[in-house]
Amino acid sequence: MLEAVELTKHYKQQKAVQGINFYLNQGEIVGLLGPNGAGKSTAIGMISSLIIPTKGEVRFNQVDVLKDPQVLREKLGVVPQELALYDDLTARENLEFFGQIQKIKKQDLKKKIDEVLIQIGLDDQEKKLVKHFSGGMKRRLNIGAALLHEPEILIMDEPTVGIDPQSRNYILETVKRLNQEKQMTILYTSHYMEEVEFLCDRIYIMDRGNIIASGTKEEIKNILSAEQTVKVKLEIQHQGFIDRIKQESVISRVDVREQWVTIVAPKEVPVFSQLFQFAEETGAVIHGIEIQTPTLEDVFLHLTGRALRN
Ligand SMILES: Nc1ncnc2c1ncn2[C@@H]1O[C@H](COP(=O)(O)OP(=O)(O)OP(=O)(O)O)[C@@H](O)[C@H]1O
Ligand SMILES: [Mg+2]
Repeated sequence: MLEAVELTKHYKQQKAVQGINFYLNQGEIVGLLGPNGAGKSTAIGMISSLIIPTKGEVRFNQVDVLKDPQVLREKLGVVPQELALYDDLTARENLEFFGQIQKIKKQDLKKKIDEVLIQIGLDDQEKKLVKHFSGGMKRRLNIGAALLHEPEILIMDEPTVGIDPQSRNYILETVKRLNQEKQMTILYTSHYMEEVEFLCDRIYIMDRGNIIASGTKEEIKNILSAEQTVKVKLEIQHQGFIDRIKQESVISRVDVREQWVTIVAPKEVPVFSQLFQFAEETGAVIHGIEIQTPTLEDVFLHLTGRALRN
């Protein structure tokens, strides 16, 4: 549906985006995950024809958007990273203003605004001045402004930064709902991996202007899972059991912390059955056993040697 090909933006000194390729299929929620300065907002700016690329193409249903921006503009809603609202207007007045810019017909606008206010959960606050809104309410209104013209594609640039957990959950649920009920295609930008894990079907991970990993959550996590990590809880620390594990050359790592033993081994090794066998041989008592699955944060750390948030 929407496709970026070798999309590039260089500022004088700064290679903000260095030839990235990505696509959105209709009905997907796709995550764009990356730390500060990765180039996420620049990439979004180029898709929404606000930033002229140094090189590369954006295609919407095969049409070159850079040559003909109007084909996408009507179909696209963009929620900017910086709040774009008028403090001295009420919630409804703000939406009226954005509706007029978007050239929504006057006779349709009131109904549209009523609908959007419900979608963003501000229908009981519509007469309040925005300057009296909380951060979370402003974020929700910022999203509302992008929904007025019923976009087919919604691009959200870090829509939950700096807000309370309750508003954040509300926004995440709203994104899910828009996708499920309106079949809206969504590109969701964030540096919170747990949001992206919760929402997204597919994920692109960006760092320093490049896409460094892409795929479904499972595919991305599989980057790490040539090995498995298993954690065993013993009744008490048991040296015989630990020594027995260490004799197995296929097990790549053993860490002991009090009665917890963490084992790392290649995926094909049947760690579970071996551990129970060793316990039986040595008389150790196993109280619990768990497999640790990697998070997207682990993947990012693995790929870059840095944490996603500093
Ligand atoms: N107009 C500009 N002129 C020069 N450099 C810029 C400009 N806009 C962005 N940059 C640089 O390009 C890089 C990417 O910035 P961008 O805002 O796209 O990152 P981001 O991933 O959105 O970061 P954040 O999570 O902080 O919003 C940064 O190093 C930034 O300083
Ligand atoms: Mg940004």
